[in-house]
Amino acid sequence: MSIIEKFRLDNKVVLITGGGGLLGKSYAQAIHEVGGIPIIADLANTNIAQTAKIIGPQADSMEMDVSDKQSIKVGFEYVATKYGRLDGLINNAAYNAPATSKNSPNFVEFEDFPYEVWQRSLDVDLSGAFLCAQEASVLFKRQKSGVAVNISSTYGNVAPDQRIYRTLTNENNPSQRFVKPVSYSTTKGAMINFTKYLAVYWAPFGARANCLTLGGVFDNQDSGFVEQYKERTPLNRMAHKDEYAATMVYLLSEASSYMTGSNLVIDGGWTAW
Ligand SMILES: NC(=O)c1ccc[n+]([C@@H]2O[C@H](COP(=O)([O-])OP(=O)(O)OC[C@H]3O[C@@H](n4cnc5c(N)ncnc54)[C@H](O)[C@@H]3O)[C@@H](O)[C@H]2O)c1
Repeated sequence: MSIIEKFRLDNKVVLITGGGGLLGKSYAQAIHEVGGIPIIADLANTNIAQTAKIIGPQADSMEMDVSDKQSIKVGFEYVATKYGRLDGLINNAAYNAPATSKNSPNFVEFEDFPYEVWQRSLDVDLSGAFLCAQEASVLFKRQKSGVAVNISSTYGNVAPDQRIYRTLTNENNPSQRFVKPVSYSTTKGAMINFTKYLAVYWAPFGARANCLTLGGVFDNQDSGFVEQYKERTPLNRMAHKDEYAATMVYLLSEASSYMTGSNLVIDGGWTAW
């Protein structure tokens, strides 16, 4: 097999949770481009059918709430019935508390961080990944193949540098500063070791798991924050939204056949100094 052929995903079925979001779409586009069948799974009202249509004829979509065990069951049944297999699972869905709205939990100190938000993050980011991996595991074991990619963040790798948020304050109460939530760092940190667990458990069955740890993506954030982020990053910029897709193809394909249990960090150098 040539090197370029190793990166192909011809007719490989890949389920992307939170696939209707900023990065999920770029993964779906890339998987389709190299011959695969991306299944974009997301909540209702996320326009995923339209997204799949735009991506191309092999792209598929389904409504699936990863915080709901029954919804996950139904989703995986759909995949098993329609395709008879699952080659890749991207645990990408994440709960995003409203960033700067009046009731945002981002404007409370750690001591007052709402338990409900903590629990919601755990349910979506972490338990969702666990439940999807359980379902995928049944298919992976049967096939004796399969790859999972769990998405982490710089803030799962190191603590947030709260100083870069200092230009953000609550419009309704300027005395309240922005504090990057503890729940996000916790779930994303857990993704790294959850990946190692899966890698070791799946190895005898021919399946692999790796973690992809990402730095911040430019998405028209507050200009003060963007400046602070750039200053803190050796490459002096945030990532573009399509800069992780090629790595995702690598992780899902034969090109990464000897890689499992790893945490691949792409953060513009954030953790290098
Ligand atoms: N964008 C960044 O700067 C960045 C940086 C590091 C890591 N990440 C990680 O990358 C992943 C994707 O981020 P993004 O920027 O595309 O975010 P996004 O908010 O655009 O996408 C997340 C998607 O998850 C979906 N989702 C939320 N709850 C769900 C649920 N219960 N069931 C199913 N889907 C649900 C949302 O509807 C959304 O489409 C996340 O895990 C995020 O933590 C993003």
